[in-house]
Amino acid sequence: MDIVILDGCAANHPVSQQLLKLAAGRGLAFRHFALAGINLAPCTGDFDCWTRTPGICRTRDAAQDIVSAMRDAALVVFLSPVVFGGYSADLKKAVDRLIGLVHPFFTKRDGLTRHRPRYQDYPPMLFLGLSERSDDATATTFREYAGGNAINLLASRYVCRIVSPQADDLPAQLAAALDSALANDTGDAFPTPASDALAAVCRPDPGPVLSAPATAAIFIGSARPKGGSTSEALARGLAAALEAQGTRCTLLHAAAFIKPGAAAERALATMLAADLLVVSAPLYVDGLPYLTIRALERLGRQLGAQGGGPGRLVGILNCGYPEAVHNRSALRQLRHFAEQHGVAWGGGLALGGGEIIQGRPIDDHPLLLRRPISALQQAGAALGSGLPVPEAAIALIARPLVPAGLFRRLAGIRWIRDARANDLPRAALDQQPHTRNT
Ligand SMILES: Cc1cc2nc3c(=O)[nH]c(=O)nc-3n(C[C@H](O)[C@H](O)[C@H](O)COP(=O)(O)O)c2cc1C
Repeated sequence: MDIVILDGCAANHPVSQQLLKLAAGRGLAFRHFALAGINLAPCTGDFDCWTRTPGICRTRDAAQDIVSAMRDAALVVFLSPVVFGGYSADLKKAVDRLIGLVHPFFTKRDGLTRHRPRYQDYPPMLFLGLSERSDDATATTFREYAGGNAINLLASRYVCRIVSPQADDLPAQLAAALDSALANDTGDAFPTPASDALAAVCRPDPGPVLSAPATAAIFIGSARPKGGSTSEALARGLAAALEAQGTRCTLLHAAAFIKPGAAAERALATMLAADLLVVSAPLYVDGLPYLTIRALERLGRQLGAQGGGPGRLVGILNCGYPEAVHNRSALRQLRHFAEQHGVAWGGGLALGGGEIIQGRPIDDHPLLLRRPISALQQAGAALGSGLPVPEAAIALIARPLVPAGLFRRLAGIRWIRDARANDLPRAALDQQPHTRNT
């Protein structure tokens, strides 16, 4: 069985070369996916890999090969620079395409909602983050985020290490990481969130006092079509409250960043010129979706080059699990982005059970969505007058829309109904298209 390396570093990165040399030197067979040079489309967020072609993404590209290799792997290595506490856009694009490996149905594990396994067994995983600062807050976020991925991708065990590309002992660091990951009896502890983890990241920076923003750019990170996403519905709720305060809002869609070109440049220019930047995104495999990371990477480069830019960044994250706490690592990534670029963190709003909304205007459900509606109104009123998101709004939107147990049962009915609409019987949801050649 091979070691599968999902390599999110720039082409021919010295650390990738070192890792390959190490594996070859030990006579280990490996498959190296150098993702920066591989043709891979972004996930479209339609769940067809659960309810239309269960276990297989309908977009035909390198993702099938990657998933099939992972099924046969002795170890899967996720290699990436630490990019505001998460992965590079290239690695995240591949990770977003892996959800067909799990079953759509929900279950409860260690107090939180998770997906059921599709297969009987899953490989161990090694997460290698490259950073010169292995003990700063971004490294801590990377470790927790990798642990979350290990849980969601059902790793049999996992190891996460931050290695320094410049260190003299890099080969020894890589060798130690590989040894730990290959040893059957070791592994890092799967993380459980501290009770205040979400509140801590959502809390805005104490200062500065800003003038009321004349303009806001609201970036919608969902890969779903315009008008069809929860991220957009929440963005529109906040925009209405901001406009009522006199802040002119422009909604931007992640699709502008699928290819480099005029649409991406226009979106970047709007973000750079805005007084307030809001990112409203779905949670994809515990973190920000690929297109959001791509957009932020580009925005960060421009902020570095020309200075200026928005005075405040606010995050709105919604996730499929009913508990809002799953959004914590993604919000922390946004917060690190703000810190790294001298933008004030204006606060985070985290919603669980986002599939309840699915693009419908939030005002269509005034009772069920009373808390998110009120939270967005409070947030818009504060932000529109130059203040950060109020703590009351942060607490309100994070409360569950429906009890988690009921949500899990209703979600099961939804997947069966979606499969039927695609002419599939219930049993088809359990398909195991990628067999393991052991
Ligand atoms: C590729 C992918 C990965 C996902 N990963 C997670 C996850 O790790 N945790 C979670 O709670 N929801 C996850 N979801 C569910 C979405 O967060 C959820 O469906 C959300 O409401 C979609 O919002 P949108 O309509 O704005 O795109 C994932 C969805 C997709 C498509």
